[in-house]
Amino acid sequence: MRPLRIVQLTLWAAAAVGLVAVGLVLSGVLPIDGSSRQAAVTGAATQGRSQIGGPFRLTSHTGATVTDGDLKGKPFGVFFGFTHCPEVCPTTLFEITQRMKELGPDADRITFVFVTVDPERDTKEALADYMQAFDPRIIALTGTPDEIAAVAKAYKAFYRKVPTDGGGYTMDHTAIVYLMDKEGRFTSSIDYHENKDTQLVKLRRVVAAAGS
Ligand code: NI
Repeated sequence: MRPLRIVQLTLWAAAAVGLVAVGLVLSGVLPIDGSSRQAAVTGAATQGRSQIGGPFRLTSHTGATVTDGDLKGKPFGVFFGFTHCPEVCPTTLFEITQRMKELGPDADRITFVFVTVDPERDTKEALADYMQAFDPRIIALTGTPDEIAAVAKAYKAFYRKVPTDGGGYTMDHTAIVYLMDKEGRFTSSIDYHENKDTQLVKLRRVVAAAGS
């Protein structure tokens, strides 16, 4: 083998190792609740942050129509999940509840919405029941399957129905809380992997950036 050929092969090998490393980093940065990590990461990795977010029209757990326009004017956090989720969703909603306590009066300067990816089971009544466990300011949202598909697409959020033993199903889904500025633009995210201080710093930053 000629020396030049060896150099080329070495470079290719280094590039391959680099790609694997990037994949691992992304999988940590973009947590998925469920078994579909790789598919979701591949999709998210190709998207720019400025393309995250967009118009939606959904129904709240109190029966009100809520649009992206209703949320603008204040920063907002968007989390996709479902009420039958065994761990990550309730944990995340509990953490949001705790962070809102820690923000004190500043918690009123940001709105949190929980968008179900399981509208089949998560009716507004089911959401109203579920949300009693969390801060009453968090707005749970449901809609038709098409409306949910549209909002998830706007946020580049992934979700998928996964059959379980016994004929039921669970949902795999993107498990970050998207932090949007008061114009509805994506700024950063928090997730259940982070410690509470990191989450709080990010939330304070988003609130501060919006001004008073
Ligand atoms: Ni979940």
